[in-house]
Amino acid sequence: MTTLPDTQPLATQSTPVAPQGVFITFEGIDGAGKSSHIGALADAWRARGHTVTLTREPGGTPLAEKLRTLLLSDAMDPLSEALLMFAARRDHLTQVIEPALARGEVVISDRFTDATFAYQGGGRGFDWQVLQTLENWVQAQPDGGTRQPDLTLWFDLAPAVAAQRLAGARAPDKFESESAAFFSRVAAGYARRCASQPARFARIEADQPRDQVWADVLAAVRNHGCWQASPGQAA
Ligand SMILES: Nc1ncnc2c1ncn2[C@@H]1O[C@H](COP(=O)(O)OP(=O)(O)OP(=O)(O)O)[C@@H](O)[C@H]1O
Ligand SMILES: [Mg+2]
Repeated sequence: MTTLPDTQPLATQSTPVAPQGVFITFEGIDGAGKSSHIGALADAWRARGHTVTLTREPGGTPLAEKLRTLLLSDAMDPLSEALLMFAARRDHLTQVIEPALARGEVVISDRFTDATFAYQGGGRGFDWQVLQTLENWVQAQPDGGTRQPDLTLWFDLAPAVAAQRLAGARAPDKFESESAAFFSRVAAGYARRCASQPARFARIEADQPRDQVWADVLAAVRNHGCWQASPGQAA
């Protein structure tokens, strides 16, 4: 595939060399434990004097939340699903994530592009290279690079354990209603993505007591040097 000639980089060339914030994502299959810790991590950053945007995907803007509703309820072919995911992501990046990072703030997102590779790429078997092309378009940076999280906390949990945790907890959405085999492929998709970009990934053993999971989350943030980032704010 060729590059889109009219794709605009996410920040304009006139943007000054800004203090870059910190971008942290939570990933893992449904029921892995992401939401149980994400608020506490936001609070830990705030306690250190930082401004935090806590957000999620798909979603995070009015438009992207509308797309989320469609994505989590309506059946559609895999390409439509992938395109809507990236359309929602583009809006989320331009409206929320990039502006916050340009202000030197902390952005913590419950899922981001790794989930698209895991669910659409792994779970649905959608073409990995097409996803990479979409990623490069949607997350294009002025320097020619692709926006990626500074740290991705991957909550790795066996699908059977996750299913047990979620059983009866709430009405399953479109993805949560998928088969055990689907979630095994999703987990394999996360593992593949982690192996391809190991520097930004921290694999969290999610099959541990909550206190230990939380300790591992904090250790991962510290070990990746994230507390020192975000110049201009208290470290
Ligand atoms: N370490 C843990 N041990 C046992 N149960 C846990 C643990 N962490 C979370 N849970 C429970 O597992 C369930 C799923 O947790 P949570 O909602 O945080 O997962 P999630 O990754 O955010 O899921 P989803 O992707 O569906 O939003 C909840 O009922 C939660 O209380
Ligand atoms: Mg959750």
